[in-house]
Amino acid sequence: MIDIHTKIEDVVKVDSNMIGFFNKEKIDFCCNGYMTIADVAKEKNIDPIILVRKIQDKLDTSNSKEKEIIDLDDFKELRVGEMIDSILIDHHEKERNLLFEIDPLLNKILSVHFEHHGGDLIMLHSLFASLKKELEEHFIKEEKITFPLMLENEYPTKDLIREVEALEADHEKAGDLIKEMIELTDWFKAPKDACGTYIHTFDLLEELVKDVFVHIFKENSIMFEKYRGNGGK
Ligand SMILES: [Fe+2]
Ligand SMILES: [Fe+2]
Repeated sequence: MIDIHTKIEDVVKVDSNMIGFFNKEKIDFCCNGYMTIADVAKEKNIDPIILVRKIQDKLDTSNSKEKEIIDLDDFKELRVGEMIDSILIDHHEKERNLLFEIDPLLNKILSVHFEHHGGDLIMLHSLFASLKKELEEHFIKEEKITFPLMLENEYPTKDLIREVEALEADHEKAGDLIKEMIELTDWFKAPKDACGTYIHTFDLLEELVKDVFVHIFKENSIMFEKYRGNGGK
């Protein structure tokens, strides 16, 4: 049972189908998953009771047919070291490949469709470049510094907690860039005169940002939470 004090991240922990719903409603379940339904309603200037009802309805009608291909239940049961391995394969590798694939395509559609869509595409190109830089540098920090330290230290030290908080701040920066991209393209809807490459590029961008949202959720709301729960020393 949920109420206005329920955190958005806890709704997703109960039912990962809700990720699709929150994406559609532009409700941030990853970087700001700690917000309650009341906080979100206030930000969106809507009645919190109506939002609770809407979320509850969606939970009640949620079924396995529309299940996102995200198995949070299995992930939640892993040890922190196993979570790290799973994130590296399922998200870092996948997102690096997507960034690598999208980069030249975005450049191509910017050139071909500059006449009719130059304004939006220039902005999107710039946001993507910032996101690419942010994510690539962030992945390296996790892989070379923070994750190895987490593996070495079963119990988090104060310094390590600060490292984790710095990663969460990076997530927020990436999340803000993504939100701007979503606003600009209305969830990557290609214009009517878009060619195949344009549509394909937008599909890949959508795939990338959906994956980043799940990736951030797993780190912030599950893995880091579990690691912090090991106590400090
Ligand atoms: Fe990561
Ligand atoms: Fe991260």
